[in-house]
Amino acid sequence: MGIQKRKEDHLELCLQAQVESRNKTTLFEDIEFIPNSIPQVNLDEVDPGTFFLSKRLKAPILIGAMVGGTKRAQAINKALASAAAKYGLGFGVGSQRAMHELPSLALTYQIRDVAPDILFLANLGIQQARNISSEEIQALVDSIEADAISIHLNTAMELIQPEGDTDFSKSYETLERLNQSLKCPLIVKETGGGLSREVGLKLKAIGIDLVDIGGAGGTSWVGIESLRSQGVAKQLGELFWDWGIPTAASLCELKNLGFTTIASGGIRNGLDIAKAIALGATVTGIALPFLKEYASGGMSAVEAYIDYLVKGLRMAMLLTGCRNLTELQQQKLVITGKLKDWLISRHLPLP
Ligand SMILES: Cc1cc2nc3c(=O)[nH]c(=O)nc-3n(C[C@H](O)[C@H](O)[C@H](O)COP(=O)(O)O)c2cc1C
Repeated sequence: MGIQKRKEDHLELCLQAQVESRNKTTLFEDIEFIPNSIPQVNLDEVDPGTFFLSKRLKAPILIGAMVGGTKRAQAINKALASAAAKYGLGFGVGSQRAMHELPSLALTYQIRDVAPDILFLANLGIQQARNISSEEIQALVDSIEADAISIHLNTAMELIQPEGDTDFSKSYETLERLNQSLKCPLIVKETGGGLSREVGLKLKAIGIDLVDIGGAGGTSWVGIESLRSQGVAKQLGELFWDWGIPTAASLCELKNLGFTTIASGGIRNGLDIAKAIALGATVTGIALPFLKEYASGGMSAVEAYIDYLVKGLRMAMLLTGCRNLTELQQQKLVITGKLKDWLISRHLPLP
């Protein structure tokens, strides 16, 4: 099956089917802030702005990597990038594999005409990156004028996908090569499996400083491929649908390793964002909800969703007496339930 047809299938399934975790959650529900009933802060002073990769964001939110390569993807990328520009958020395109194979598709990823200044992330899978020279990958970044590139990991998905690439060798070598040779920052990005402390330590050892933990609890790529599969592959997709480290647990796994961290996977509201920041993330990434809002209600629905996210975050900040994200990162938290069990079982300190 051609890559463009596969991407269209993915998009349709994301819009029509239930493609999120079934019995697993992010575990953000096991985190409680300590409310401050007398915050002594004027809501007008509460500023959720931050800097990420030298760009100023009005809120710590990136619209996650999703599409590229088709006419429909082009419209989605332009719309979401212009929303990111209007509200001071970051934005990432989907895998540039299609434009690597067919360079004329570059225009389906280009957004600088509508969003000249936003923080903009290029994207490629580790499986493809292994076989492409650093110069060609740099050209993929330059041709869309991105600020950095996310190299995504999707091991479980490749194992279910009928056309999946199941050679996972030389991944650390590829990441090290690219991190040393690209002129732009490189982010190692999971897509639902979550990053463990053991993997984090190995990434640190090869010089990686930027990660997107992409934890479990949100969109399930195993699930999406399972819906496209038949026979044993489908059964395996059902079995591993919820595979992965819950997003909140993955943030705790990587705490104090010195990464600059994007938290993504199942982040859906301002309170999730506040909890991710309090667990040490610099910014958060949200994908599926933006696609759904755009498909169902166009730009006004996307803008209303951003308003809900930012207002929810600012509300959480005010209710804990925080004026900025630095103060939010210092908040004491109560950890309960499965997240506490996870930390105890992994001998990780309670935050
Ligand atoms: C339609 C769609 C396409 C995606 N394509 C990519 C991709 O090409 N590259 C990538 O790194 N992540 C891709 N993702 C994963 C997201 O960037 C994100 O890591 C994941 O969906 C978890 O976030 P969520 O729960 O907010 O959706 C895609 C997600 C969706 C919904």
